[in-house]
Amino acid sequence: MRVVDLFCGAGGLSLGLRRVGFNVVQAYDCWDQAVAVYRKNVGPHAWQVDLRNIFKMGPMLASMAPDLVVGGPPCQDFSPAGDRVEGERAEMTKCFAMLVCIAKPSWIVMENVPQASSSKSWSEARRMLFRAGYGLTEAKLNAAYYGVPQTRKRLFVVGRLGEQDGFLNSALASARTSEPMTIRSMLRSDDPDDQSLEEAEAFFTRPFYTGRGVRSLDEPAPAVIRTTREPPRPGYLASPHPDDPVPAAKAALLTQRQVARIQGFPSNWDWADATSRDIDQMIANAIPAPIAEAIGRVVLARELGASIPEIHGRFGSWLLRSKGFSKAAVRNAKSRVNRARRLLLGRTFSNGAVELAVLEATEAFAKLSTATRSDLRKALCLYREWQNEPKGRRVGAAKADAKCEAAAA
Ligand SMILES: C[S@@+](CC[C@H](N)C(=O)[O-])C[C@H]1O[C@@H](n2cnc3c(N)ncnc32)[C@H](O)[C@@H]1O
Repeated sequence: MRVVDLFCGAGGLSLGLRRVGFNVVQAYDCWDQAVAVYRKNVGPHAWQVDLRNIFKMGPMLASMAPDLVVGGPPCQDFSPAGDRVEGERAEMTKCFAMLVCIAKPSWIVMENVPQASSSKSWSEARRMLFRAGYGLTEAKLNAAYYGVPQTRKRLFVVGRLGEQDGFLNSALASARTSEPMTIRSMLRSDDPDDQSLEEAEAFFTRPFYTGRGVRSLDEPAPAVIRTTREPPRPGYLASPHPDDPVPAAKAALLTQRQVARIQGFPSNWDWADATSRDIDQMIANAIPAPIAEAIGRVVLARELGASIPEIHGRFGSWLLRSKGFSKAAVRNAKSRVNRARRLLLGRTFSNGAVELAVLEATEAFAKLSTATRSDLRKALCLYREWQNEPKGRRVGAAKADAKCEAAAA
């Protein structure tokens, strides 16, 4: 799949997607330092551009006909670390949506802080994407459960043309590991920095407001920010957090390379001629490559028809309660929905008539007996009826959301 990376920064997202086989053809960012670092490590296809210039960028992206447009627009206006006023940087989220609406790729992936999900800018961007025909999955994911030794909760929006909202919820939840990744599991015995960290058994990271500064190696790091590796200040040493496992003065400080690795950048990442402060900023900005990789794998599996969405549990109770189905009939209906979904290569379709038409046009479907074809059609129609039923839909949707919230917890 051909990918364009908007707001590419130093290349965290592109790196992860490339690892699972995506072909990142172009990348854009307005920051010269970030573009230089991207070019040194990912490839020469990164350009310094102000993405607010929709007139220039829109037609250019459309002519590239990418299959997937990805981007992590600036988050400072939504972030609890900022002043939460939706200004120019929040506008970039709308800018991302506008460029998508012009380029019309089959797939999109956007990342931002969780607070963006309730912002005015995202609500406008969402409306634009909906009108352009995208079904959206909005999931708040914790990177620690997607191969990153860091509790980093972020909003990921995955969209696909023609899908129902939430079409990828169950696949994203299934990609989650059962345990969070710890700092200890990242350490390497041949790295001198890691050896000193291992000896200290605990590490200090600059706390966010009144948060905890010291963590054991058997925990993930907190979300990396630009100042993560700063030493404890006198105020913290005098009044430490009560849950610190050891005094802050005895805890190791992370090196810049270690913080970069926590954010998914390999040790040999070339930071070009950037200043140390700028490197810290690029590291903090990044979407860690392992979570990008995990999401990329989920997208690819669905694109290739290798995964299907899970059926909401409430569908079964609805069939029992409202349709008078026996338990055996419920099992049959569910397995028929799944069979039809496999024939549809996992697609959900916002429009029921289109869904049936695509099913009819499928070669494998045409080969089934008349009775089986009729059973599959009926099962899909029942499932849609349940989805359209106001009460059933509310209950089911809440459950799907709860799954994603669980992934973020
Ligand atoms: C959250 S960071 C992206 C991180 C990147 N996706 C990664 O994984 O490393 C946001 C990026 O948006 C860029 N940016 C901000 N305003 C921009 C604009 N008007 N045009 C292009 N890029 C912009 C910033 O320079 C920053 O690198």
